[in-house]
Amino acid sequence: MKILVLYHSDYGNTEKMAQAIAKGAQAAVDDAHCQLIQVEDAKLDDLVAADLIFLGSPVHMGTMAWKVKKLIDDCGKLWMENALAGKVAGIFATGGGLGNAGGGVELTLISLFANALEHGMIAVGFPKNLPGYADGGLHWGAYARCANAEGMPQPISDAALVAGRSYGAHVAEVALRFANNTE
Ligand SMILES: Cc1cc2nc3c(=O)[nH]c(=O)nc-3n(C[C@H](O)[C@H](O)[C@H](O)COP(=O)(O)O)c2cc1C
Repeated sequence: MKILVLYHSDYGNTEKMAQAIAKGAQAAVDDAHCQLIQVEDAKLDDLVAADLIFLGSPVHMGTMAWKVKKLIDDCGKLWMENALAGKVAGIFATGGGLGNAGGGVELTLISLFANALEHGMIAVGFPKNLPGYADGGLHWGAYARCANAEGMPQPISDAALVAGRSYGAHVAEVALRFANNTE
């Protein structure tokens, strides 16, 4: 199974979450080939070649980072060709979360989820019974708050990375079930 983890990260938190997701996905599937690529470096062919695509963003000004949205918009040709339809998708984000209501993370995750559905992908949420959910989960996907109560940046926590690994494994297992049913 070809697994692609796409993300943008300025300061490393979203990259660490991307790595945790890749680790979980890799561990869940025996023959997984997992690639991590920053959205700026992604080619459309990378997406077409993948069976499972994760897409992650830091929260910027209440929604996803513009470089992530640029890649999504650049995928218009793939939408025309239904090239991503039927692939499984997972989503993730990190944010500062100031304001006690997530600072825009729900909008970020819902937007990423909607973009996957727009392509006819099978977007997979994060069940609350999985390890790490309380520290790094939302029903949409993996999320780490990377700031203290005053909103000052903090490195991503190990507890949130547990959530990243379990979400990565969960989505990969769903993708594997689809792959096995079509053989
Ligand atoms: C330009 C900019 C805007 C941001 N806006 C928000 C925001 O609206 N809401 C939020 O929760 N965090 C916001 N943050 C905090 C980041 O989402 C958070 O620090 C994140 O973990 C950074 O990810 P990175 O280390 O992968 O770059 C912002 C950070 C930057 C640099």
